[in-house]
Amino acid sequence: MTNGTANDFGADFEGRVAWVVGASGALGGATARGLARRGATVVLSGRNADTLAALAGEIGGGAEALPIDIGSDPSVRAAADSIAAKHGRIDYLVNSSSVSVFGDFLSLTDEDWLAVFNAKHLGYVRTLRATIPHMIAARFGRIVNVSGRGGQHPSRIHLPGGSANAAVDLLTKGLSKIYAEHNIRINAVSPGPIRSPRLDAMQGAGRPAKGPVLGDGQPDDVADAVLYLLSERSRFITGAALQVDGGGPGLG
Ligand SMILES: NC(=O)c1ccc[n+]([C@@H]2O[C@H](COP(=O)([O-])OP(=O)(O)OC[C@H]3O[C@@H](n4cnc5c(N)ncnc54)[C@H](OP(=O)(O)O)[C@@H]3O)[C@@H](O)[C@H]2O)c1
Repeated sequence: MTNGTANDFGADFEGRVAWVVGASGALGGATARGLARRGATVVLSGRNADTLAALAGEIGGGAEALPIDIGSDPSVRAAADSIAAKHGRIDYLVNSSSVSVFGDFLSLTDEDWLAVFNAKHLGYVRTLRATIPHMIAARFGRIVNVSGRGGQHPSRIHLPGGSANAAVDLLTKGLSKIYAEHNIRINAVSPGPIRSPRLDAMQGAGRPAKGPVLGDGQPDDVADAVLYLLSERSRFITGAALQVDGGGPGLG
């Protein structure tokens, strides 16, 4: 219940430091709001400094905007180091970035594919590589990588993004096994269609007519799943890819 004020995760998030990358987007923004409402200090990253500053102002409670381009490894490392230096640790990392590149396979260029992988799979690799050493030092870390249903169920206009999602799920599973011994849990949330500008862009490019059996989701549906996997309610779960896809398309 991300919209609620109930203490639904106990004190899990109080006083914790969360880095949300992709916070200027629909799903990252909802996640940042949900964490802040439950007492976490949230650091908001993406590229759009104005959007991030407006969100930080709206959230209040110590939320801060930290614009970065996750295409640049030095800037990602500098950002992670600055959060750890200022707050002493990074308890949570949420990766929720992507670029909207949709189209027919034969029309998509190398540049399109590279842009998608750079903003998603490789971008996540960079934030993970920069953050995990701080989590190891603190012997605590909870990470959620937002992937996407297209990683398991191909769509003809979304093969670059779907391929990046599949790679994110694999990366998540692998890292979860490597870093479990450091008390770091790493999971993925794999959304289906969620009402957002990104879905509108996909719709414009020819999204399949058959939607999920439960209808399209809302950003808070994803935020709730992310918060669950960050919280101690999910203490026995790592390496999972939680489908938040409204049940997927119905049977023909
Ligand atoms: N919405 C859906 O229906 C849906 C469905 C399945 C999966 N997903 C996945 O869920 C995640 C979030 O989706 P969304 O709908 O919230 O997307 P969105 O609104 O388009 O947000 C994307 C975010 O990625 C950031 N970003 C892109 N390139 C970046 C870069 N080089 N450096 C730093 N930040 C960068 C954007 O920041 P700036 O705008 O500030 O650059 C923005 O914050 C994505 O991984 C997406 O693939 C979404």
